Amino acid sequence: MASRAATMVALLLAAVAATCARAQLHDKFYSESCPSVEDVVRKEMVRALSLAPSLAGPLLRMHFHDCFVRGCDGSVLLDSANKTAEKDAQPNQTLRGFGFVERVKAAVEKACPDTVSCADILALIARDGVWLSKGPFWTVPLGRRDGSVSISNETDALPPPTSNFTVLTQLFAAVNLDAKDLVVLSAGHTIGTSHCFSFSDRLYNFTGMENPSDIDPTLEPQYMMRLKSKCASLNDNTTLVEMDPGSFKTFDTDYFKLVSKRRGLFHSDGALLTDPFTRAYVQRHATGTFKDEFFADFAASMIKMGNANPLTGSQGKIRKKCSVVNH
Ligand code: HEM
Repeated sequence: MASRAATMVALLLAAVAATCARAQLHDKFYSESCPSVEDVVRKEMVRALSLAPSLAGPLLRMHFHDCFVRGCDGSVLLDSANKTAEKDAQPNQTLRGFGFVERVKAAVEKACPDTVSCADILALIARDGVWLSKGPFWTVPLGRRDGSVSISNETDALPPPTSNFTVLTQLFAAVNLDAKDLVVLSAGHTIGTSHCFSFSDRLYNFTGMENPSDIDPTLEPQYMMRLKSKCASLNDNTTLVEMDPGSFKTFDTDYFKLVSKRRGLFHSDGALLTDPFTRAYVQRHATGTFKDEFFADFAASMIKMGNANPLTGSQGKIRKKCSVVNH
């Protein structure tokens, strides 16, 4: 009897410890140590986006790529002398904005030295980028600390654009995100651009035959022609296309309209139509009449993604510069 009670107490303590570990990020983390952090970040974001509004997309994507690999620990920002860091891996070669993040970090360091992590700065920048693109605003839970390890092979955790629904749900589940988070966060593709090479296999070489009829049958034919006119060949390395043509700088529900018409740019976007739950979500939001609901969902899923295995408390460090570990 006594040993059963002891087991119960141990289980209870373990549950409390697990809850505390999860609850370590919080909204007012810097309210005493750096009350101006959000203003400093916002000022830099407003300035940068007024000059280059297309930066919001890459910065949102950077937070996603940070969180999926080793958790949200700023590891995507680290440089490596021998080119073996996350940023050297293929999926991250198309990230932009590293210089800008370093500028924001310098401004934050000036206001509050050695206090705010690069991982938290990424989360704030991503939120501000969405908000300044006319998307939702949410309060970002803070208190992440920075890791010191960044390994290019670990970017296997990032979903490739060729992914089917099964692969997508597996990779999302690995960071505690479910099918709803998948369909909601995929709508991040309402802003930003893509290189042709990220989807040109759908236009020219879908099964590896490299002939004009070797196309992805799930892509709507007229859209296919339009994309082919922009991306001249399989080897086009430079052309950028708008992911949500006509409103790629505005965060809205148009992504769902596109996907519902089989005009999602990547195979992974189209894959959302292959599952009953995500298809229903796409179709509901393709109507454009539930914008507030989508915005609330997006905010909730971003907070959930930002909770992916953060380093907290005495773990990790506060880096002085985001691209290098402290000496
Ligand atoms: C569901 C799995 C996902 C896949 C397979 C995927 C894949 C991609 C690819 C291939 C690009 C284009 C890169 C280029 O060629 O320049 C891209 C761009 C982008 N992705 Fe995703 N993505 C996914 C999920 C997400 C999520 C969860 C977010 C954020 C919440 C996001 C935000 C973005 C943004 C904003 C861009 C535009 C970046 C720019 O303008 O440079 N993506 N994505």
